[in-house]
Amino acid sequence: MSLTNFPGAGGSHTGNPVTKVTMPALAEMKRQGKPITALTAYDYATSRIVDEAGIDMVLVGDSLAMVVLGHENTLAVTVDEMLHHTRAVRRAVRRALVVADMPFGSYHGTIADGLANAVRFVKEAGAEAVKIEGPRVELVRALTDAEIPVVGHLGLTPQSVHRMGGYRVQARTADTAEKLKTDALTLAEAGAGVLVLEGVPREVAAAITAELPIPTIGIGAGPDCDGQILVFHDLVNLTFAPPAKFVRRYGDAAALIREAVAHYREDVEHRAFPSDEESYHLPEAARAALVPKAEAAPRLRTIRKA
Ligand code: KIV
Repeated sequence: MSLTNFPGAGGSHTGNPVTKVTMPALAEMKRQGKPITALTAYDYATSRIVDEAGIDMVLVGDSLAMVVLGHENTLAVTVDEMLHHTRAVRRAVRRALVVADMPFGSYHGTIADGLANAVRFVKEAGAEAVKIEGPRVELVRALTDAEIPVVGHLGLTPQSVHRMGGYRVQARTADTAEKLKTDALTLAEAGAGVLVLEGVPREVAAAITAELPIPTIGIGAGPDCDGQILVFHDLVNLTFAPPAKFVRRYGDAAALIREAVAHYREDVEHRAFPSDEESYHLPEAARAALVPKAEAAPRLRTIRKA
């Protein structure tokens, strides 16, 4: 596989060399039939874990509006908020391709505005590609001409929630499936390097994947795509609503965090945290000078026993 070693990448956080995943590397994975792994991430700690686990593509998704910021859909998140999170992810990730989602409103006006906003993600936040929803062929061409790699996103596009009348599976008829395939091919011709297919029947995603020269990454699109993506918070049960049909929970971070926090609360309430070992101490001489001996001795004895 033709993965490139970026001389300036600086290696992993432990100093070992890393082979950076690039857009051409993802295309090569499709050619070789090697599944592409992708996940969303929005902050330094989780991005670092995701990257160190060997995920190929990290998407700073506008889903952060819902899973991190608590909005009811993705529409409210701003360019500045997305930039803030993309910077944190960029600082953590050494190997995976970092893709930034362009938020609603940031590419729906003129091509020049869309281009200017995309440039901010690359220049100010270190994104290596941007993702845009819908068949915006002219914009994809302009971004590609400006050397900004593009990830397209078709099918159930959450920024179209009001037009779709909710989050509904798309392309369920022969006509709409054909239209989706045409849109996908047109985006690829315009320069998109990867295509996310969300909420479409397995058969439609399979047919598009077979015809498209670029990799497809599915979410609720069945197992025949070239890769899969999930929202990180869905994967580890940090979302508070019943999961969609396509979500598989691989861990229960909510239970883990709840238990750890409850245990901490109990320990503080019972003065079992912090212990003497978890405390800093004055040297003996300074302690003697600070606290009269008669007072200090019994208190220290009690703490040490605990
Ligand atoms: O914002 C998002 O999380 C996405 C998905 C493809 C998962 O767009």
